[in-house]
Amino acid sequence: MSPTFANVEDARRIARRRLPTIFFDYIDGGSSAETTLRANTGDFSRLRLHQRVLAGLEPRDLSSQFLGQRHPLPFMLGPVGFLGLFAGGGEILAARAAHAAGIPSCLSNFSIASLDDVRRAGCAGPLHFQLYVLKDRGLAEAFLAAAEHAGVETLHLTVDTAVTGIRERDARNGFRAATRIGPRMGLGFALRPAWALDMLRAGKPGVGAVRGRTEFGANILAQAGTLSRLIDPALSWADVDWLRERWTGRLTIKGILHPQDARLAKRAGVDAIVVSNHGGRQLDGAPSTIGALPGIVEAGEGLEVLLDGGVRRGTDIVKALALGASGVLLGRAYAWGIAAGGEAGAARVIALLKEEIHVTLALMGLSSIDALKRLGRDALVPADDPAFAPR
Ligand SMILES: Cc1cc2nc3c(=O)[nH]c(=O)nc-3n(C[C@H](O)[C@H](O)[C@H](O)COP(=O)(O)O)c2cc1C
Repeated sequence: MSPTFANVEDARRIARRRLPTIFFDYIDGGSSAETTLRANTGDFSRLRLHQRVLAGLEPRDLSSQFLGQRHPLPFMLGPVGFLGLFAGGGEILAARAAHAAGIPSCLSNFSIASLDDVRRAGCAGPLHFQLYVLKDRGLAEAFLAAAEHAGVETLHLTVDTAVTGIRERDARNGFRAATRIGPRMGLGFALRPAWALDMLRAGKPGVGAVRGRTEFGANILAQAGTLSRLIDPALSWADVDWLRERWTGRLTIKGILHPQDARLAKRAGVDAIVVSNHGGRQLDGAPSTIGALPGIVEAGEGLEVLLDGGVRRGTDIVKALALGASGVLLGRAYAWGIAAGGEAGAARVIALLKEEIHVTLALMGLSSIDALKRLGRDALVPADDPAFAPR
């Protein structure tokens, strides 16, 4: 597969052609009226960057400090469940593409590949793991042990899924309710022969983190359903303390969207937070992440803040960094890359965003990501400036 797309939206279009509708919609969709999903991208596009000229500089340095390390790029691949259903071995392909670019990739608790699979496939680069704390704390401890064994550096505790948002596209496609492949789903698969062949080659999928645990069910649909039902809806800050005692690596909380929660996270002693609304897949009507970011950075006072949600362009990443994020996590952008072209597709998404950031910095008269971060909000046209685009 050699994808020749020019931007992330192109990758999305190719993914739509390659994937059965049920999986394309699962990636693409948000919750309920998809208001927050649209706000994530819409609010990025409302921000305006300052164009500066004759600065006598060349942007050379896209490296960025986040999560305790300097990375060659200011973004990483965030956790996306079921990547291995979008292309055979999807998680491994994503990790390879990320590591080739020198950036971390994060395995979701709902990945097809296990952490060990990724390591055994020779992916030696920085690996993160996203954890859902289950009602059965013994299982959560088993996930932590697997993460430690695989040399995971950073654990992201996702906290915005007390219950699963209402995903109407998934309901229409029968995604959630299914426990086996029925005729309609089978027909959808048959209509995408290249994808179906890839899946057949990859072998029977399952949720890697619960492999061998028969109580989760015999197939991926049953395993995913059981795992979802076991996520503890009553998680509290006391559980963050519980986790902090057991996990000695770096810990972030993913899913912070309110300044007061940022203050509480700081008090809980986590290393960083990820401003996230789960890509508009949870609380519909919640603010966009880029809109919430400035208030959270201010409330967190020195707490490291990352962001995800709606990132489709290098300019989006530049805007998030200007507003105080130390780094950015990609979600759909690279999932579409995987679906569109496997490892080469994800690598292409990373390369395109890198190029876009490079061009953006050059046209802003900035020589590096560090210079952008130093400039901060002054890199953006303020909303009360007449040059700011009215709604
Ligand atoms: C198909 C899909 C599956 C996801 N699965 C997970 C998951 O298992 N765990 C998690 O913490 N976040 C998950 N997310 C949320 C992403 O980590 C991230 O917050 C979101 O995708 C960012 O928004 P964006 O896709 O608009 O960039 C998922 C998102 C998508 C699109």
